[in-house]
Amino acid sequence: MKGTILINPYDNHPVQKRKLQRMTEEFSALNIEIEVKANDGFAVYVKNGAIECNLHSDFVLYFDKERITPMLLEKIGVRVFNSARATEICDDKMLTHTVLANEGIPMPDTVAGPLCYNPNAAIGDAYLDKVVEKLGLPVVVKQCHGSFGEQVYLCDTRRQLEKILEEIKSQSYLLQHYEKESRGRDMRVIVIGGKVVCAMVRSNDADFRSNASLGSKCEKTIVPSQIAAMCEKVARIIGLDYCGIDVLLTDPPKLCEVNSNAMFEKIEQVTGFNVARAYVEHIKSCIEKHL
Ligand SMILES: Nc1ncnc2c1ncn2[C@@H]1O[C@H](COP(=O)(O)OP(=O)(O)O)[C@@H](O)[C@H]1O
Ligand SMILES: [Mg+2]
Repeated sequence: MKGTILINPYDNHPVQKRKLQRMTEEFSALNIEIEVKANDGFAVYVKNGAIECNLHSDFVLYFDKERITPMLLEKIGVRVFNSARATEICDDKMLTHTVLANEGIPMPDTVAGPLCYNPNAAIGDAYLDKVVEKLGLPVVVKQCHGSFGEQVYLCDTRRQLEKILEEIKSQSYLLQHYEKESRGRDMRVIVIGGKVVCAMVRSNDADFRSNASLGSKCEKTIVPSQIAAMCEKVARIIGLDYCGIDVLLTDPPKLCEVNSNAMFEKIEQVTGFNVARAYVEHIKSCIEKHL
C-alpha cells in the first residue's frame, strides 16, 4: 500500500511539521509507503482538456485546504482523506453551520455577513442596529476562513462591532451570539472513522477564546454521551474521516466549529491517546475494504 501526503507549499508552522512527522512515523510502523509532496497544483491538473495525475498512490492524505486538488483527484477515483466536500465544508465556518442547520445540532445563532465588494461603502447604522437587536452584545464576529482563534473577535460595544466590520467587510465573515456561559472554555473532541476517540477541555482565564495556541490549560476529559452523540453525528453529516470538533460548554452543549485538519500534538500529550496511529489504521482499513 502506498500513499501521498499533500501539504500546503507555504505552511512552515512547526506544529504542522511535527504532525507530518507523527503521521509518517505511524504509516511506516504499519508498512505503508508514503511520499510527501507540496500541493503546488501540478500533482493533478487539467492538461489538453483532461485530468493529468502525477501521483501513483492508493490514497492521498490531504493536509491542505485548497479546494481544487481533491476535487480533481476524486474525479479520477483517488481516495482522499478527508474528502474534497468535507474539507470544503469545514474550511468555511458559515458553510459548516449551513450544512449542519436543521439537523438537530445545537449551535449559537449565526448570521452570514453581507457581501461587500465596494471598499468605500460604510457599514450602515440600520445594519448595526439589527445585529445588536438580533444577536445582542457582546457579539462574536468570525472570518469564515481562519484558525488558532486569530480571526475570531468579541465586540463588547456597537462601536467596536462597527470598527471590526469596517476592517473585514471585504472578506467573508459571520456574526454569532456570544455564549458567555462558555467564556474561555470549550471541549476539543477528536472523531476518527465515525467514533469519538479522545477529548480535552481547554480553558483560558485571560481570553474568551480557548484555543491551545493562545495558552489555554488543556486537560484530558471523558466525553459525556450527549456530546459524543453530537460529535459523531456532525462527522457523519459532513462525511469526515478525521476531525477535531470544538464544543461550547453550554446547556445543552453547542457546536462551535469543525476542523478537518485538526492538529493533534497537544491532545496526544494531554490524553496519551495515539491519534496518528488511529488515523493511519482508519485509512488502512478504508483502502483495504475499498471504502
Ligand atoms: N459563539 C461563541 N461564544 C463563545 N465563545 C466562542 C464562540 N465562538 C467561538 N468562541 C471561542 O473562540 C474560540 C475560537 O473560535 P473557533 O470558531 O473555534 O475558531 P478557530 O478556527 O480560530 O479556532 C473557540 O474555541 C471558543 O473558545
Ligand atoms: Mg477552533
